[in-house]
Amino acid sequence: MTTRRAFVMGHPIAHSRSPMLHGYWLDRYGIAGSYERVDVAPEDLGAFFAAYRESGWVGGNVTVPHKLAVIPYLDRIDEAATKLGAVNTIWWDDGRLIGGNTDWVGFLGNLDELAPGWDRDAKKAVILGAGGAARAAAYALGERGLSVALCNRTASKAEELAVHFGGMSGHGLDALPALMGEADLLVNTTSLGMMGKPPLDVDLAPLKPGAVVYDVVYVPLETGLLKAAKAQGHRTVDGLGMLLHQAVEGFGHWFGQTPEVTRELRSLLIDDIRAKTPGA
Ligand code: ATR
Repeated sequence: MTTRRAFVMGHPIAHSRSPMLHGYWLDRYGIAGSYERVDVAPEDLGAFFAAYRESGWVGGNVTVPHKLAVIPYLDRIDEAATKLGAVNTIWWDDGRLIGGNTDWVGFLGNLDELAPGWDRDAKKAVILGAGGAARAAAYALGERGLSVALCNRTASKAEELAVHFGGMSGHGLDALPALMGEADLLVNTTSLGMMGKPPLDVDLAPLKPGAVVYDVVYVPLETGLLKAAKAQGHRTVDGLGMLLHQAVEGFGHWFGQTPEVTRELRSLLIDDIRAKTPGA
């Protein structure tokens, strides 16, 4: 039996948690495969793809700083990758190398798992930030039919993103209290509140009762934002499940089995985060 080999490539790559979760699924389903870290410096990207077929890769994940740079080496990219301007998953389809983006699927899968029914009557969402994670969140919520407002320190970036996706609005942080009063979902996509970064300083008092609060940060698992939201009686969603759920589609393409995001897998990653980051 041939061993199917998949990769996660980036630079640096040593700290990626993806091998842990794909390794768990390979084990769980008894698949003869591997999922390997590959450190590819930007100047070596051409050589990586030149050797791609001979290397026998069934596909893999792409992370920082290559999410945009890989696009010219692929035969086609899917609609989400096109709209998000970033590829995080590569696979073969009928001899053609395809690039896709599953971050938005991960964003929604996590929300659906941890706050079931959240979208039953949800109409409006407010997203804090205007970087890569904000793009994935905005695209995802737009696809679910929500009206999306983007709020960012640099208002012009939020405005540009709103125009890029169409039908969304962009604002500076001064607009946040008023927007929160009408929001069914508040999402932090900035790195504020992450261990080693400054805290996210947002007063949740104006937030609509019943709103769900989602932080894409997952180290620590319970950020200051989520703590404050819980204390105010809101349902909360941490960012770890976004990593888990974004991986499902890739694993399916490479190994022919749609894997399940289990509690055991989540615990495995939580233990790893706690072991490596005391206080998380
Ligand atoms: P990523 O791609 O991971 O989402 P990023 O592109 O670096 O990360 O985006 C970081 C986001 O955090 C940006 O929206 C940034 O706001 P600016 O566009 O104004 O830079 C936001 N951010 C970072 N530090 C911030 C701070 N101290 N206060 C408010 N927003 C901050």
